[in-house]
Amino acid sequence: MRTTVGIIGGGPAGLLLARFLHRAGIDCVVLEARTRAYVERRQRAGMLEQGTVDALREAGAAERLNAEGLVHQGIELRFDRERHHIDFPTLTGRTVTIYAQTEIVKDLVALQLADGPPLLFEAEALGIEKPESASPVVRFLHEGREQTLTCDWVVGADGFHGISRDTFPAAVSRTYERGYPYSWLGILADVAPSCEELIYARGRGGFALHSMRSPHVSRLYLQVPNDSDPEDWPDDRIWDELAARFAIDGDWTLDRGPITAKSVTPMRSFVHEPMRHGRLLLAGDAAHIVPPTGAKGLNLAVSDVRVLARAFAELHRTGSERLLDTYSDTCLERVWQATRFSYDMTKMLHAQPDGDAFENRMQLARLRRITASRHAAAELAANYTGLPLMT
Ligand code: APR
Ligand code: PHB
Repeated sequence: MRTTVGIIGGGPAGLLLARFLHRAGIDCVVLEARTRAYVERRQRAGMLEQGTVDALREAGAAERLNAEGLVHQGIELRFDRERHHIDFPTLTGRTVTIYAQTEIVKDLVALQLADGPPLLFEAEALGIEKPESASPVVRFLHEGREQTLTCDWVVGADGFHGISRDTFPAAVSRTYERGYPYSWLGILADVAPSCEELIYARGRGGFALHSMRSPHVSRLYLQVPNDSDPEDWPDDRIWDELAARFAIDGDWTLDRGPITAKSVTPMRSFVHEPMRHGRLLLAGDAAHIVPPTGAKGLNLAVSDVRVLARAFAELHRTGSERLLDTYSDTCLERVWQATRFSYDMTKMLHAQPDGDAFENRMQLARLRRITASRHAAAELAANYTGLPLMT
């Protein structure tokens, strides 16, 4: 097989890039290791920046998002048993939209299979040969035999555990990493959300987040110790702990319902530099991971893809590689800002497992500053709703 752009990974990054390329008249092939059912069911985040919504619209993949996405005007911060509304339109002129990543993936897969370039499921990339040459080759396993895809360019959109990043020579790669001493226990529940906007709570026993998937389905998270076993969290214990962490002085109740999914996710910050080597370009989780407190993972993947799609379109139109040459620097600028924001939000809202009293006071001082100062609130809102693309 031969193509212009070989895309490894059929997550949101790989699939959205394929849409953009298809619309620009550039041919590509997407190789996805898992089955369609698996990628469509994988539970992930669901908060979309305005720029992400715009990108999905530009790609012609927003029909259901336009109909079903829930537009949110802000978020609520809870601490010290009080609630504080951060109003995005007033502070930034922007809003955010709740629409699950699983739904984005379903929409993109359906479009791709209807009229798009080839998308092969159960096609696992095994290696990328000659990334420095003008025609790199992806070796992959499909239908029981090893095959090759010869490309002009290869995009590694194969997530954090993919193979693309490891193709970079050690002398070229720089990685930056930070672990955190806590994880999130996430649940999906068949109950109407108890709030109109997302609640980020610094509760007494730790952090809790109330998010949602639809007017009838709630998504909630609890800070738990690393290596927690979901089996140790029967439904009643989860609801009791959530209710305690969201508790305020005043009227508010957390409505409970049947829990339909339960899982524990560790947290990590990770950045790989550069995002390009020869004719191999990384996009999304393959290049960077953020802890979910800032809701930036999916949005960063989409902004990488926007930059990359523009670069390929310019190459196709004019023959110029200028935007491909600046791709890594352009993306990393925004990646580091999102890494900083995600780190700050995480540090500000999670209970210190060692109970460090000084750090506790610092967290409260930061939160109080945000609720006391319009400038501090505007800074949070600008980052949360998404910094502009720096091209
Ligand atoms: N060959 C083919 N496909 C692969 C390989 C491989 N060797 N290794 C991994 N993949 C596939 C995975 O099965 C997955 O479907 O690559 C895809 C990567 O998708 P994601 O992990 O969703 O990453 P990305 O598209 O960058 O999306 C980023 O996902 O992890 C969340 O928070 C993150 O929301 C963000 C988004
Ligand atoms: C989610 O809806 O899953 C979600 C929302 C906001 C976050 C993290 C996850 O910060």
